[in-house]
Amino acid sequence: MAIKLDKAKGIIARDRKVMLTTTRVPYPLVVDRVEGSYVFDADGNKFVDFTSFIAVYNFGDGPSSAVKKALAAQSQKIMHAAFNDFYGQSQIEYAEKLTGMFPKGFGRVFFSNSGTEANEAALKFARLFTKRQYTIAFYNSFHGRTLGALAMTASSTRQRERFGPFNSVVHAPYAYCYRCPFGKEYPSCGLECIGHIKKYILSKEVAASEVSSIFIEPVQGEGGYIVPPKEFVKGIREIADDNGIVLVSDEVQAGFMRTGKFLGLDNFGVEADIYAMAKAVGGGLPIGVTVTRSSLGDIPEGSHSNTFGGNAASVAAASATLDYVKKNMSVLASASKSNGAILMKRLNEMKERYELVGDVRGIGMMIGIELVKDKRTKVPAVAERDEVLRTAFENGLILLPAGVSAIRIAPPITIPRDALHKGLDALEGSIRKANAKLK
Ligand SMILES: Cc1ncc(COP(=O)(O)O)c(C=O)c1O
Repeated sequence: MAIKLDKAKGIIARDRKVMLTTTRVPYPLVVDRVEGSYVFDADGNKFVDFTSFIAVYNFGDGPSSAVKKALAAQSQKIMHAAFNDFYGQSQIEYAEKLTGMFPKGFGRVFFSNSGTEANEAALKFARLFTKRQYTIAFYNSFHGRTLGALAMTASSTRQRERFGPFNSVVHAPYAYCYRCPFGKEYPSCGLECIGHIKKYILSKEVAASEVSSIFIEPVQGEGGYIVPPKEFVKGIREIADDNGIVLVSDEVQAGFMRTGKFLGLDNFGVEADIYAMAKAVGGGLPIGVTVTRSSLGDIPEGSHSNTFGGNAASVAAASATLDYVKKNMSVLASASKSNGAILMKRLNEMKERYELVGDVRGIGMMIGIELVKDKRTKVPAVAERDEVLRTAFENGLILLPAGVSAIRIAPPITIPRDALHKGLDALEGSIRKANAKLK
């Protein structure tokens, strides 16, 4: 399908001149507006959304009228109320409501503006709580890009090069079973990734008594939508318990119903000690939340704060979004399950049909497909992945990459069936085309 991109071309040329380059997809989408599970660009082209705008619009249009109403009402009073210096009723009410969504015993909240900051706060709090300085994070993880969060992020050297040296973070292999770092297969591997932490990291590199926190993404996002076995996550919890280490769950991408549960970690029957969330929390407005186990205590006054955390407008939007989630919890959980099952079925059929599709994995509506040049050698199909993204765009579907050669499938959880199948048809057409070119 040839799509008209006249306006887009001009806008992108201006962008290149005035903006510093950030991350960009390999296709020219100039966003104009979103309507449910569809996105319209500056030229009026319509696309199915399989990105939820990086897992932010998790619920499509669901909460949007309530969010707009709450914002309009708040804008009449005050937009920014310096909540970290003064007190605010709506922020406290929201925090009380939010902690009610967490396991028993989670009663303290810190507000920030992004996922990076939510993690940065968790990193610092764990140091304060334990009076220890080191952190263990995982390869392929993405926790953000400020220097503390970036020290933990290890999904691509491009994100780290020239920014180091980094502070005290030790990286451990994640249970990326499709490409086991130890060349083994699950479950006969006996979870060597857990053994490695005990046998090498905590025996030869850093004393457990100096480790404040272990950061885990329940499903790795940016690193490739990688789902670990339950026993891996349980093993990490055990290591934390045995050594007085704070377990932090980075729920920025996997949380807020993306996997069908409020917390991604709930899929593994494990509780963390600190949860960091952002993205979908604000219903489109920026807000990060760091939620701690009450028994960890408080932090000293003045040791961590910010200007915009608890911003009145963001909190109004977040509160309306949370009300929507609470009211529709079972609908969202079942939509995630049923839409996720449709996606898994069709994506697994594509895996059977096309050499290019090496792996399909996911929980709920957080699904990754990994493209390879050859199913046996598993050589990553990087150029082919980018070509699939471009062709999908031309066919009316927007997608985001992840990891080296994976694609994220993260539509709004409530995407209607016709849009879901339309998107899957566009994806399959793009995969078929790229697959035909494989040598
Ligand atoms: C798991 C995870 N943590 C942290 C972040 C950083 O969030 P932000 O971009 O809001 O700073 C992201 C962003 O993609 C993420 O996926």
